[in-house]
Amino acid sequence: MPPFSRIMLMRSFTCNLIKIAAVALLVPGGALARSTSTDSEIKMALDAAYDKVSTVTEGKNADYIPALAKVDPKIFGLALVTVDGHVYTKGDIKSEVSIQSVSKVFTLALVMDQQGAKAIEDNIGVDATGLPFNSIVAIEQHKGQEINPLVNPGAITTTSMVKGKNRTAVWKSILDYYGAAAGRPLKVNAEVYRSEADTNQRNQAIAALMYAYGRIKDNPARATDIYTEQCAVSVNAKDLAVMAATLANGGKNPVTGKVVMKSENVPEVLAVMATAGLYDDAGKWLYKTGLPAKSGVGGGIIAVVPGKFGIAAIAPPLDSAGNSVKAQLAIEQVDTALNANPYSVVPYATYGGK
Ligand code: DON
Repeated sequence: MPPFSRIMLMRSFTCNLIKIAAVALLVPGGALARSTSTDSEIKMALDAAYDKVSTVTEGKNADYIPALAKVDPKIFGLALVTVDGHVYTKGDIKSEVSIQSVSKVFTLALVMDQQGAKAIEDNIGVDATGLPFNSIVAIEQHKGQEINPLVNPGAITTTSMVKGKNRTAVWKSILDYYGAAAGRPLKVNAEVYRSEADTNQRNQAIAALMYAYGRIKDNPARATDIYTEQCAVSVNAKDLAVMAATLANGGKNPVTGKVVMKSENVPEVLAVMATAGLYDDAGKWLYKTGLPAKSGVGGGIIAVVPGKFGIAAIAPPLDSAGNSVKAQLAIEQVDTALNANPYSVVPYATYGGK
């Protein structure tokens, strides 16, 4: 098509889009009428969620990693970042916790950027296991396949797939990638790293098994060590919300404007988060919120409203599936208040109300 015709086509497409948006906003109950929230609606939603959830005392810090048991259980921070780069925070956003399993999402995106989404589908699988995150039964069921990159066997395997000429190079690409998604350089909490490295015999066994099944190609001990270090990266609630917003914005960090991940892989990353991000409770979570999300045993949870915003909460006490009790409740509250569940649509209203 000659360039001029292409421009005309784009112009008429843009005009139509504007018309559709105008109709939707003008017609009560139009399909797009509830699609965006105002500044004050977002602030009110965060305030209300924080007030409602801050008194909750259920849950318990993870203690199978000894350093996590020592983290202040009262830390409670909430942040929301829109795809146009507005940052909203509430509560404690200075305190940092270890990112833990939230990291798995970003190593997954990195490997997809390097090798394509199919490499993950073929080598690990993209199915929810319905089992706890460190289940060995899940590996045995399909000989290390038909799992997903968000449970430990799939995540350690994903880390083993990151390209780099040596450990230092692999580690640098992981840490730089997380920093680009968060919009600032991130550091490792050395105490958490050491503590998990001293007690991660189960993950070592998981990696050995994934190696035995040919999913990890080489050096399972090194893959486990790098995975352990990635889990110890230190973040606050705002960092996590910017990382979530980078996913919500098709891989481009909306605060720094930097393209972090290939947008073509974002739908696959979000799909795995939706089906497996909260492990054996992923179904319940999706049923309540409709949001792709990921939890970590440090107490952080991120959730993504595609095309709109990323949200994160940090509160260390966990439920029995290893998901932060308060972070789940707070994100659910905001999701409901802002009508952000992507499955919740208003029926399309035609002229004349029919
Ligand atoms: O491998 C582990 O057990 C931890 N480093 C991460 C587990 C985790 O965060 C599970 N998420 N809720």
